Amino acid sequence: MIPYYREVGDEVEVFDLCYKNRLPLMIKGPTGCGKSQFVAAMAARHGRPIIKVACNEDTTASDLLGRFFIKNMETAWQDGPVVRAVREGAILYLDEVAEAREDVIVVLHSITDHRRELYIDRINESLSAPESFMCVTSFNPGYQSGFKEMKPSTRQRFVTLALGYPPPEIEIEILIKMTGVAPAVAKAMVALADGIRKQPQLGLRETISTRLLIYSAGLINGGMHPRKALLHGAIESLTDDAKIIQALKDTAALHF
Ligand SMILES: Nc1ncnc2c1ncn2[C@@H]1O[C@H](COP(=O)(O)OP(=O)(O)OP(=O)(O)O)[C@@H](O)[C@H]1O
Ligand SMILES: [Mg+2]
Repeated sequence: MIPYYREVGDEVEVFDLCYKNRLPLMIKGPTGCGKSQFVAAMAARHGRPIIKVACNEDTTASDLLGRFFIKNMETAWQDGPVVRAVREGAILYLDEVAEAREDVIVVLHSITDHRRELYIDRINESLSAPESFMCVTSFNPGYQSGFKEMKPSTRQRFVTLALGYPPPEIEIEILIKMTGVAPAVAKAMVALADGIRKQPQLGLRETISTRLLIYSAGLINGGMHPRKALLHGAIESLTDDAKIIQALKDTAALHF
């Protein structure tokens, strides 16, 4: 079954052309805006498995490429996710790629440019990516703080797609489709989210996401009062500052 994804702009066209032309794709956007859901839907659309790697600052080249381990007193090699994806012609999805150290990201360079080749020095093997292999990365520019910025030599190896929170009418549609919440409730939740997103003075590190609206709708569907559902499903996840929590509760009370 193809996961539900509601197109917001031209992202499906961009993905399809990248897949067809064997170009790597970088998706940037805030947390909970649909990046992973989009990649899952696109992989299913092209009938390819996804091999997903969550990157962080401790990610090593071995985590990506593979390592030797001891089995029955002998050393054996185990492919890492990048090598598996190349061998299987899968869609490699590197989540939060900017979190990985640059010297680690560099191992991807030859596979993400015109060469589409991977050299695994530990086992002295060169792999050529099959046509169906595609590398997709995602990152959240909101987390980027100067030193974490990716090098242009990495950035410029990718076609880049910027996703954001969907416009209100589409977000309402997504909420109803994903949770079955009543249309009037979905409409009020999205109006609330829209209001919160337009208030940078709240000083939230990241604003309310589609994901948090989906969580809150789930609680409402379970019988919880919308104000309480929004408190637990969204507001408490946005901040720990008591004053801002109160301000957000007051805003929610205007809608419910
Ligand atoms: N356009 C959309 N179509 C369908 N579902 C969407 C869409 N936008 C957001 N969602 C839903 O919002 C939720 C969060 O999406 P997802 O997990 O893909 O976010 P993300 O951008 O990958 O976040 P993170 O950066 O935290 O990993 C999911 O339940 C997803 O289905
Ligand atoms: Mg994600």
